[in-house]
Amino acid sequence: MPKAPNIPIIAPSILSADFSKLKDEIQAIEAGGCDWIHVDVMDGHFVPNLTMGPFIVEAIKKLSSVPLDCHLMIQNPEKYAERFVKSGASWISVHPECHGEPFEALDIAVKAGARPAVAIKPATPVSVAKDYVGRVEMCLVMTVNPGFSGQKMKSECLAKYGQARELFGPEVLLEIDGGVMPDNIKKVREAGAQVIVAATAIFGTKDYTKAIKELRV
Ligand code: DX5
Ligand code: ZN
Repeated sequence: MPKAPNIPIIAPSILSADFSKLKDEIQAIEAGGCDWIHVDVMDGHFVPNLTMGPFIVEAIKKLSSVPLDCHLMIQNPEKYAERFVKSGASWISVHPECHGEPFEALDIAVKAGARPAVAIKPATPVSVAKDYVGRVEMCLVMTVNPGFSGQKMKSECLAKYGQARELFGPEVLLEIDGGVMPDNIKKVREAGAQVIVAATAIFGTKDYTKAIKELRV
């Protein structure tokens, strides 16, 4: 497995960008020093919201120069994994709670050239991810119920990072997604999260450079 890059990795969630000026938004977060771009893919079935498909990922890819971290909050990820990778996803996260074949989705994603990750909802115990040990390079522990930006962090989920570290060992990246703000980033980092996804904390501000800097602790 490749060595972990510089930690923390800051991954603005493009979900809260202004899509009427997507190019400017991407330029601004990249100029602000973001490491990755997090892309929240929702299908209206696995979660009660509908967002971006491969077509949008392809557009984001053309406009950006950092890795795209595609968080698949969808049923049957095996049907779409290859298209997301071909559209530019560097990372593919699947949920074990989905209907379908998440393992197959990861195999397809890896074969197509992406790096594999598993994502778990707040109510899902870390132990549910045990069959992913040895098959993923990152574990995303969600700290809000998937579906929408702008929710308050469920801070009781922070205890799951220690459990995830124990389960996956030292090499697997641990990612946080949901409600990360400047006033809780210290606790988030102390809990063990290394990849920091943030929508509101970045796109909800006027100065993305400052917002990204504030999360880099
Ligand atoms: C929620 C998404 C998140 C969301 C984060 O389902 O997976 O990535 O965009 O938004 P904030 O940072 O506002 O909680
Ligand atoms: Zn996400």
